[in-house]
Amino acid sequence: MDHFLYRDGILHAEDVPLTEIAAAVGTPFYCYSTATLERHFRLFQDALAGMDHLVCFAIKSLSNQAVLRTLGNLGAGMDVVSGGEYRRAQAAGVPGERIVFSGVGKTREEMEYALSHGIRQFNVESAEELRVLSQVAASMGKRAPITLRVNPDVDAKTHEKIATGRKEDKFGVPIASARNIYAEAATLPGIEVVGIDVHIGSQLTDLAPFEAAFTKVADLTRELRADGHVIRRLDLGGGLGIPYTRSNETPPLPLDYGAMIQRVFGDLDVEIEIEPGRLIAGNAGILVASVIYLKEGEGRDFLILDAAMNDLIRPAMYGAHHDIIPVIEAVAATDQRPVDIVGPVCESGDTFAKQRAMPPLDAGDLVAFRSAGAYGAVMSSEYNTRPLIPEVLVKGDQYAVIRPRPSFDEIINRDRLPEWL
Ligand code: LLP
Repeated sequence: MDHFLYRDGILHAEDVPLTEIAAAVGTPFYCYSTATLERHFRLFQDALAGMDHLVCFAIKSLSNQAVLRTLGNLGAGMDVVSGGEYRRAQAAGVPGERIVFSGVGKTREEMEYALSHGIRQFNVESAEELRVLSQVAASMGKRAPITLRVNPDVDAKTHEKIATGRKEDKFGVPIASARNIYAEAATLPGIEVVGIDVHIGSQLTDLAPFEAAFTKVADLTRELRADGHVIRRLDLGGGLGIPYTRSNETPPLPLDYGAMIQRVFGDLDVEIEIEPGRLIAGNAGILVASVIYLKEGEGRDFLILDAAMNDLIRPAMYGAHHDIIPVIEAVAATDQRPVDIVGPVCESGDTFAKQRAMPPLDAGDLVAFRSAGAYGAVMSSEYNTRPLIPEVLVKGDQYAVIRPRPSFDEIINRDRLPEWL
């Protein structure tokens, strides 16, 4: 459920008509709903209510500080994957003890920065990283709290580019070698083992792969405890999928996911962490664009928008589907006809949808891409020197621009001409 609904024939974000924001801000822009963000965060809180837990928002999915502060104010932790994301979480006011640091390639500088400003734990992805982290922490007179990310060799049955838990993927350490690495960790002066981490992929629409992976982690917890390690925290990653089409998709609900977690880990007396991104942010955001032209081609028509692949790359990169709907509601009886929905960028990959049935639309009309809150704005670029588009946050009947559109001068003046030119 989200808070983007038609009222009196106009698509609203909570209580604000999107036509009003478009007139004030210009198109294209991203628009997020506070009520939806908060609702989704609370679904996870409720799902894990029976257990000691922390919900860490995966800020790679949507990292605007206003969003992070909204969730941080509800008590959310943050999952970061770079020094930049760590600083964003910090800037949003989230304390280090609620920040977990994931990622396969943490640098010494990133480790040092997080250790000096406070960190809940590092999710370590290799024996090599573990040794470097120990050196860095020991040189600072500290011990770094860690979990080791294990790769359970489970196929998440999701898109090839976002599956992470098979043995051919670059993530984590094979679960079979975990005991040896924990044994080494126990000897390292700069390391304090606190738990185990696992994350098998994103946009999972079935609980079975999660349960298979979690069951392996529960077994490993018992083994490591028998070996004498303190395993008091399990980070179960993110990955719960969302419905991208309104009609035929029914991914599991957070409540069922939470019940499964309680079933698998309930008797282990552990603290649970989860790192959802998409389920919190995805349907809390839309992208609003204008039609520039309806171009009549040979055998097919093209709806050319002012948004492009640089603003929302998911269709080009993953073949992802986003529902695209008119901001002014189509009259019920209107005939729909198929069009290719494209952007102005100079490559054929700049296609959002092929032969999508749409009501009649013409130059100047507004459309909204649904489910664009997660991995939308954060993956955008300035390809074709197209400015990063604004982000707007709505709360009830208020809205605010939370990232303005940069001017062309700001973009061009970032370049420097060398002396010889
Ligand atoms: N934790 C870790 C360690 C991750 O790598 C990810 C996502 C998450 C949590 C959050 O997963 P989520 O709950 O959002 O599924 N750009 C792609 C998705 C990449 C996901 C990367 N890792 C897309 O647009 O579909």
